[in-house]
Amino acid sequence: MELPFEYGELVKQAQFINRKEERKRLAQNLKGGLNTTLISPRRWGKSSLVNQVALDVESRKTRFCFIDLYQIESEAEFYQALSREVIKVTATKMEEWVKLARLFLGKLRPNFSFGVDPLNDFEISLDYGQLEVAFQEVLDLPEKIAKEKNIRMVICVDEFQNLAKFNNPLLFQQRLRSSWQHHKNVSYCLYGSKKHMMMDIFQNKQMPFYKFGDIMFLEKINTAHWTSFICKQFEITKKKIEVQLAEEIVSTVKNQSYYVQQLAHLVWVRTPKNATRDVFLQGVSDLLKQNNMFFSREMELLSPTQIRFLKALSNGVENFHRKEILKEYNLGSSSNVTRIKGALEKKEIIDTLVPKIEFLDPVFELWFTTKYLNK
Ligand SMILES: Nc1ncnc2c1ncn2[C@@H]1O[C@H](COP(=O)(O)OP(=O)(O)OP(=O)(O)O)[C@@H](O)[C@H]1O
Ligand SMILES: [Mg+2]
Repeated sequence: MELPFEYGELVKQAQFINRKEERKRLAQNLKGGLNTTLISPRRWGKSSLVNQVALDVESRKTRFCFIDLYQIESEAEFYQALSREVIKVTATKMEEWVKLARLFLGKLRPNFSFGVDPLNDFEISLDYGQLEVAFQEVLDLPEKIAKEKNIRMVICVDEFQNLAKFNNPLLFQQRLRSSWQHHKNVSYCLYGSKKHMMMDIFQNKQMPFYKFGDIMFLEKINTAHWTSFICKQFEITKKKIEVQLAEEIVSTVKNQSYYVQQLAHLVWVRTPKNATRDVFLQGVSDLLKQNNMFFSREMELLSPTQIRFLKALSNGVENFHRKEILKEYNLGSSSNVTRIKGALEKKEIIDTLVPKIEFLDPVFELWFTTKYLNK
């Protein structure tokens, strides 16, 4: 039997809930050639959304190609991955791969090596020495193939902000932008979870990707959708949960997609037939236990003042610069508070780009409150 709740993997089709508007907007953008940037904190559902849209849109005439910058360490590796993936999704036969590569990547002297399954598994190696002068060939590869085959290509680049670890990120962005803006048959979908970095790349007038296309800030899936999904998943596995308890699952983790699925799973596993409050509380306790080691390690990286700031935040403080607050929590000066905010934002502990500062991870917040404020 398949488990009714999934987390850690991308969800699709029947397991993919709601996001109707975003799904439509992203599909329309990419079909129509409007480049799109998608931003949300970790684990809200970016990769699943793009993947689902690919399933909605993909056809013989529209090919999707995925690249994850998480695993790519340098500009040269990026070019290698881009060539490989573009060729893989646009041709089906070994001879054609080789032909396309020779035709469009000639200056880079492409070499192929084949894996155990030569029909799906190959690596292309480019002449690294030539890349500095001929990278343009790789960047234009999707456009040239799309034109030649009369198709549209959609290039999806996940964890885009990771380009920051390349040797010269600014030059790299300039190269991408100046080539990509001329592409008529390719749409680009660039997404990532480090909001600050993504916003700096796409919303800063001085940066090459300023006004690159549509920017979508993914929102959380609302409670009604989650609740009916949870109730339904219990029902089809011949178990039962009351709406109110399902709502509590959702609110405990503040609608964050990954955790809703995880907590629902923990409650479901412990439920013989009817979910009870007791089982729910055990589920929450499991969730905290499972994350305990990870969060403890995270705490070791925080300074005592940063921890005091988080205590104030969990106590509901909104204006940290007030004299009494500075004193009560021993936060030093007002400019010190600004520094603390910046540091915690960088560590992805808090989000300051919202009306009210909040913890980014709702389970970390819960864990912190339980442990440090004995609530
Ligand atoms: N539309 C959805 N319907 C149901 N569950 C979802 C949906 N979107 C996300 N999830 C849940 O959230 C989890 C994380 O989703 P996903 O990996 O797509 O997020 P992400 O934003 O790409 O995360 P990361 O920042 O870690 O790359 C999924 O494994 C799934 O459990
Ligand atoms: Mg992702």
